[in-house]
Amino acid sequence: MNPLPVPSIGTNRPIADRAIGREPADATRSASRRWFGARARSAVRTWVGTRTWFGTRKPFLTKSMKPLKADPRLFDAFAGDYDRYAGLCDPLGEWLAGLELTGDRALDAGCGSGRHALALAGSYTEVLAADVSAPLIEVARIRRSHQRIRYEVASLTDVHDGEGFDLVLSMGTLHHLSDLGAALAHLKSLVRPGGEIVLVDNVATVPGATRRQYIAGAARELAHDLRRMRARDAWWLYRFRTGAVWLDHLMSDHYLTRAQYRDRYGEVFPGADFVDLSFATAMRWRRTIGPTAG
Ligand SMILES: C[S@@+](CC[C@H](N)C(=O)[O-])C[C@H]1O[C@@H](n2cnc3c(N)ncnc32)[C@H](O)[C@@H]1O
Repeated sequence: MNPLPVPSIGTNRPIADRAIGREPADATRSASRRWFGARARSAVRTWVGTRTWFGTRKPFLTKSMKPLKADPRLFDAFAGDYDRYAGLCDPLGEWLAGLELTGDRALDAGCGSGRHALALAGSYTEVLAADVSAPLIEVARIRRSHQRIRYEVASLTDVHDGEGFDLVLSMGTLHHLSDLGAALAHLKSLVRPGGEIVLVDNVATVPGATRRQYIAGAARELAHDLRRMRARDAWWLYRFRTGAVWLDHLMSDHYLTRAQYRDRYGEVFPGADFVDLSFATAMRWRRTIGPTAG
């Protein structure tokens, strides 16, 4: 397999520590100085009218409703929190497990902090898990390391592989790609004959959803979460969902409608199967074996 052209991030422990919300090991400041510093910073933030949510300094509920420029590396700013969020609510993990996928080589394109890659490691002998966010890959390496998984910092469009994969999987990622058609064609080229591709992405269930609508949705989720998890986790999820960092991220996301999804994906994968999931649509397609391999 060709090596991936990726930048090395080595063993940058301070980055990894911060990514999972831990103080870097080489921090030398005493606890009292840190406490005092935190109080002083908090007072200044209050004074300038901003709040700190989950370690990233952002105005809470910014007044501007202007969509932000989409930047997938936005995940870099809250990798540890995203991992906790995804761990607390993963409605698609169970669905994926139900597909009972097995084979030799799998690619998780846009693997985030490695949840699905780890699940695949149970039924594939080799898993390449690639994501453009270095902090998320650090979290994955720390929390979901596995001898069958190779985590790489790379855009999915830079993954090149001579052997091809039995499974190409991408969950919740393709809406970040500026050229969706090119990304779909590239992922298709990585599927070996007889192999399959499973692509799941968010769709616009409420066209042009606003911050207010997302906050109202978070309140509804809170009521539901309080019945299925510890109160402190449910409350943490609510604060994450209504925090400025996550709302900014959602405002920069652009989703297809379910119909557009089927059209765009169906153009590249004729004959694919589609299924509508709660906030997403999933597509499954297999490359045939033989001279007419599609
Ligand atoms: C919503 S998260 C989903 C992560 C993971 N698949 C999951 O389900 O938990 C979207 C992910 O796409 C990644 N991403 C965005 N653009 C990418 C690209 N061009 N190549 C690879 N990953 C990308 C982000 O860094 C982020 O980890």
